[in-house]
Amino acid sequence: PRPGWSVDADVVVVGSGVAGLTVALRCAAAGAKVTVVTKALLDDGSTRWAQGGIAAALGEGDTPEQHLDDTLVAGAGLCDEEAVRALVTEGPDAVRRLIATGARFDTDADTGAVLLTREGGHHRRRIAHAGGDATGAEISRALVEAVRAAGIETIEHALVLDLLKDADGRAAGVTLHVMGEGERDGVGAVRARAVVLATGGMGQVFSATTNPAVSTGDGVALALRAGAEVSDLEFVQFHPTVLWLGPDAEGQQPLVSEAVRGEGAHLVDANGHRFMVGAHELAELAPRDIVAKGIMRRMQELGAPHMYLDARHFGARMWEQRFPTILAACRAHGIDPVTEPIPVAPAAHYASGGVRTDLAGRSSVPGLYACGEVACTGVHGANRLASNSLLEGLVFAERIAADVTEVLREAGAPPRPAATGTDTGAGTVLAGPKARLEIQRIMSEGAGVLRSRESLDRAAAELARIDDDAAAALEAPGTESWEATNLLLVARVLVAAALRREETRGCHWREDAPDRDDAWRRHLLVTLRPDRTL
Ligand code: SIN
Repeated sequence: PRPGWSVDADVVVVGSGVAGLTVALRCAAAGAKVTVVTKALLDDGSTRWAQGGIAAALGEGDTPEQHLDDTLVAGAGLCDEEAVRALVTEGPDAVRRLIATGARFDTDADTGAVLLTREGGHHRRRIAHAGGDATGAEISRALVEAVRAAGIETIEHALVLDLLKDADGRAAGVTLHVMGEGERDGVGAVRARAVVLATGGMGQVFSATTNPAVSTGDGVALALRAGAEVSDLEFVQFHPTVLWLGPDAEGQQPLVSEAVRGEGAHLVDANGHRFMVGAHELAELAPRDIVAKGIMRRMQELGAPHMYLDARHFGARMWEQRFPTILAACRAHGIDPVTEPIPVAPAAHYASGGVRTDLAGRSSVPGLYACGEVACTGVHGANRLASNSLLEGLVFAERIAADVTEVLREAGAPPRPAATGTDTGAGTVLAGPKARLEIQRIMSEGAGVLRSRESLDRAAAELARIDDDAAAALEAPGTESWEATNLLLVARVLVAAALRREETRGCHWREDAPDRDDAWRRHLLVTLRPDRTL
């Protein structure tokens, strides 16, 4: 579609979680004209749902080196060590700058020191938290306020469609579909000299996920249509302890933070047996993939639909003070964790892969950056360490802002784009809104925690059928059809990558190839062919 309106900026940031808003603040502070566009409201993304916290070597006796070791072990041989080193060494100061920006973390009443908890895969207390278990909400509040105070232009209800490129193939802005924003309604464009994708994850590709409804893989889909390299999409992390709401639960499910285990909760089966004890030296605090697999195995052995998280021994006072959000969510669903164990099962949580970037957040398309969950910087490898995601968003946002501002200052920097540019998604065939539920069912059945060649082949064939149906139906553009189209594209790439990786590593678990195979100690890079085939 042809843009009906346009806005000019130096930098357009797509997305408004910790990654997007931090890039925006840092670029604006360096004098760039920034426009933030976001699909719903500024605080509607995944960041505000984060519970446990943000990991950084802030505690006495802790060091970035120890944080590095835990991150590499969790990543199961696929982390890029240089990227992890940047994350863990720059992390503590990035968190201090976040505090200076206005985020209020929980602190010791006597010393004022930031309180730290533990989560899976961490050998020590390293996770800063806010409001007990409402860390993301506090970070989001502080960043949204700072962006408003800095006068940064924001456009809400703006679904990103595609990348604009100039004649040299450089990113030159994005096209958007905006709903209900007055003069900027309908299809428009923000033309910019640098484009930063910070669109979050793609959890909605599965039936049950901790991700909000907006997490539909829009950034990865845009990057694929623009010809950018995408990597590691097969590594979808399933959070081990998501409140179990029945076998047919769909959409966003309530998370029960790892921090609950960090503070001493036990994972038990219906007989009260602690099945993670003896399965790993860290028991319930093993890395996330190991705990998720432990739960799935025990569910299979017992033919049970879920396991239990038992934290009755915390008592009412601790539940109310330390985990008020989780307590309220459980009670809203008729479960009282103070008096009964919480039914839990794994659900899709985090995309460890995404748009491949270098250490400055640059994708393979000049001028296009990716930051946060949409990116694959290499810090997570085959399995992200708990609470490293908010940190990645912060640290790499600062790196991107430094690179963007330097590029814009250079002689020969790209000028503000003229009112032309190639829409890299022109001609995209849209899937119908109904495809969303079908894609989620196919993916949960064929490409979930447990996968095999057979289940993945079946999923690939069913997704190809939806693609063919879309080509025949000529669906009208609209938010729901764009979201379904993006889900379909990322699902196809995810399944293709999961089929190619014939081993079990990190959170990619192939039942027909149950061992780790070091011939596969490499990343799978994907780009779409010009005819949009894989
Ligand atoms: C949690 O609180 O368990 C989530 C932490 C994370 O996803 O890193």
